[in-house]
Amino acid sequence: MELIRFGSATVLFILSLLSSSASAFSGEFEISGLEIDAPFQADPKSTKNTTVSFVFNDQNTPKASPASCSLTWAVGLSPPSQSLPGVCSDRYVRAWLPSGTYNGVADFQIEITHTYEDNTIGDPPYNINTLFGFLNLTSGDAGEMSNYTCDMARANCRSVPETIMIAKVLYAFS
Ligand SMILES: *[C@@H]1O[C@H](CO)[C@@H](O)[C@H](O)[C@H]1NC(C)=O
Ligand SMILES: *[C@@H]1O[C@H](CO)[C@@H](O)[C@H](O)[C@H]1NC(C)=O
Ligand SMILES: *[C@@H]1O[C@H](CO)[C@@H](O)[C@H](O)[C@H]1NC(C)=O
Repeated sequence: MELIRFGSATVLFILSLLSSSASAFSGEFEISGLEIDAPFQADPKSTKNTTVSFVFNDQNTPKASPASCSLTWAVGLSPPSQSLPGVCSDRYVRAWLPSGTYNGVADFQIEITHTYEDNTIGDPPYNINTLFGFLNLTSGDAGEMSNYTCDMARANCRSVPETIMIAKVLYAFS
């Protein structure tokens, strides 16, 4: 199975060329246990990395185990903005923050892809489906979102325990 190894801009370009290659998906991605911690945003003297972590589930593949994902970046760097291996516990799940969308813990986006075999779309090797989901996280001045709370004094935000946030699946690529 060949995985995508290019940035979201390339993907969107390719998708625009292949916009007729629609494939099967009806569910969304479910995100739970999300936390972002940005010590440097709370204290400019901090040298600690910013981290975003969450648990991923795909309503399209209900039998698959949840994946845990964790993104981290150092003070002075931009968040990871392309698909890199090792971010999620399941190597067929990728996550990054689209370039230019990070405005601090209370206003950012996560893009997630999930690649899996779906025999309803074709016979091997034409049964590989990749879904692209997006989650916008906003709080406070950026606009309140349910089930996402921030402690701005610590620059720490998290999803409310026992709640699920929906990352809308906007594209499929197969
Ligand atoms: C901090 O982020 C950098 C990438 O920007 C990474 O290489 C490094 O391992 C991270 N450090 C920790 C302690 O997570
Ligand atoms: C996220 O926010 C951007 C910018 O406001 C918007 O273009 C996009 O449609 C939003 N995506 C979702 C899934 O709500
Ligand atoms: C927030 O969580 C509650 C409880 O799980 C759920 O019923 C509600 O749909 C969630 N709201 C959003 C916008 O996801």
